[in-house]
Amino acid sequence: METLGELMLYDKNISPNKNQACASCHLPYTGFSGPIPSVNLTMVAFPGTVHSRAGKRTAQRHPYSPFFPVLQYNQVQGLFFGGNFWDSRATGYKLRIPDAEQAQGPPVDTQEMGLPDTACVAFRLSQAVYRPLFEAVWGGGSFDIKFPHETEEICETPGGAAVFGGSTTPIPLSPEDRTRANTVYDHWAQSIDSYEQSVQVSAFSSKFDAFLHGGYTLTSDEMAGFMLFNGKGNCNSCHVDGRGTTLTSGQTDASTAALVNPLFTCFGSANEGVPLNPRNAFHYQTTPDSYGFTPNPYGFGYRDLGLGTFLRSGFGSNANPNISWRQFAPTVDGQVQVSSTRNVAMAPPQCPTTEAPGPYFQKGFFHNGYMKSLKQLVHFYNTRDKYAYPVTSGHCPAGTTEKVDCWPMPEVPNNIDMTTGNLGLTDQEENQIVVFLQTLTDGFTRPYPNIDTFTGTCMMGGSAASQGNELLIPTPPLPPCASAICDAAPVPGPKPIP
Ligand code: HEC
Ligand code: HEC
Repeated sequence: METLGELMLYDKNISPNKNQACASCHLPYTGFSGPIPSVNLTMVAFPGTVHSRAGKRTAQRHPYSPFFPVLQYNQVQGLFFGGNFWDSRATGYKLRIPDAEQAQGPPVDTQEMGLPDTACVAFRLSQAVYRPLFEAVWGGGSFDIKFPHETEEICETPGGAAVFGGSTTPIPLSPEDRTRANTVYDHWAQSIDSYEQSVQVSAFSSKFDAFLHGGYTLTSDEMAGFMLFNGKGNCNSCHVDGRGTTLTSGQTDASTAALVNPLFTCFGSANEGVPLNPRNAFHYQTTPDSYGFTPNPYGFGYRDLGLGTFLRSGFGSNANPNISWRQFAPTVDGQVQVSSTRNVAMAPPQCPTTEAPGPYFQKGFFHNGYMKSLKQLVHFYNTRDKYAYPVTSGHCPAGTTEKVDCWPMPEVPNNIDMTTGNLGLTDQEENQIVVFLQTLTDGFTRPYPNIDTFTGTCMMGGSAASQGNELLIPTPPLPPCASAICDAAPVPGPKPIP
């Protein structure tokens, strides 16, 4: 099943133009996040099967995603835990595994692989060279489906095209065949989950894993970073590393490891107050494309409310399957998933770091790719509130440098996490946390599979603190948040979204 999943992940036939696979946006050398440095540096979202379309967020790393539980609301804490995607919209409610449900998103996402009907996946799989393997795993009758003659033509046309008149099931199938096609789609998802959960992808083979097992001694900087991650940095309260938290200065961690395979996430969500990124390609897709489809009619009126928009079954998300959750939307607006920090620093062997002066590989961090280096990301947690200015990106006051001593205002001002933002870390302490994050890269105890496929060139020069700043653009005057997003009940509050 694992091998089947791997074949599927690289199969470009699962898109109308046979030009896009999962692997177009997730490759091993970046820890399965966005593989193209110029995209990470500028438009953030990756082009889909229709190249003028692109999503709205950074491609998340998918190792360790299979370990997220089914989304649940914890009534005592008033918090949501689990799910996949930045906004947790792959809940796992049906397949009982969020990661498998996640794999059912991209093939029919208009901005991604873009098939017009989920049954196109069964149709294309029935023609795949690895069909015998699929049948060996899931049963010989899997493809006993009578596809009408127009199926190929339908599946060649990207989803959202005006010719479909809004239908998401344009292939006319009998109810029995529709059910069979749905079953194939569930099995597609489970096979992909199997591969993502395997040690090929979720390897637990980092320096830190070796350290936990007693097979590696952290250097003094790595150890100092680890102590700051658990202590003054407060990172461990969300990116759980299985140790105690030693927030009070002078406290020492006397706890023993409660977890020996920590995932560096609490599975929860938070709003870290990240500024709106005016480079995000989604803001510019405001007119109909050649298929008559307009990805984002709201332009810069779009706001990413993350989990809040999902709970409202809102624009750009999925239908929330649990109506009793909807009331909590205003308490989670702006929240996105607490990523695992594992593999955040993974980069191709020839450009082995994400940090200038390099030679480095350019990544984009956080849900909208606003951060261009881990140094910036840690500096943000450290000084977000110290250098806060009521401006949008590209408009920091003269005499200040954006991301160094000026942080623009958050995109979503509600529900901001206040446990970080003014940590009092020194420059050296920030660097030590970055060094610690680098110990979480798989491939230390044994090679990470297919890590060496990057054929581009590395970047050189500059400083990690201002990495990418030469490509900042001024945010245009922002129109108010579109009513489809911010007037959907229950409306955001207590503050309105600007
Ligand atoms: C066009 C680029 C693109 C393609 C193609 C694509 N992804 Fe993604 N992937 C993304 C983006 C962007 C996100 C975050 C989207 C969001 O949260 O709204 C993401 C998120 C994910 C996640 C969630 C990780 C987590 O921890 O929550 C997984 C898993 C994943 N993708 C796997 C896949 C698989 C499997 C496929 C193929 C079936 C695929 N992706 C195809 C861009 C892509
Ligand atoms: C209150 C919970 C919380 C705390 C505390 C916290 N984080 Fe995070 N972390 C998050 C959330 C939420 C995200 C995703 C934010 C986004 O994309 O807007 C994240 C994302 C990250 C990422 C991954 C970014 C990516 O693109 O995948 C890294 C690395 C990270 N945090 C490091 C740290 C470090 C280092 C600290 C301590 C200085 C820290 N975090 C403290 C919640 C937290």
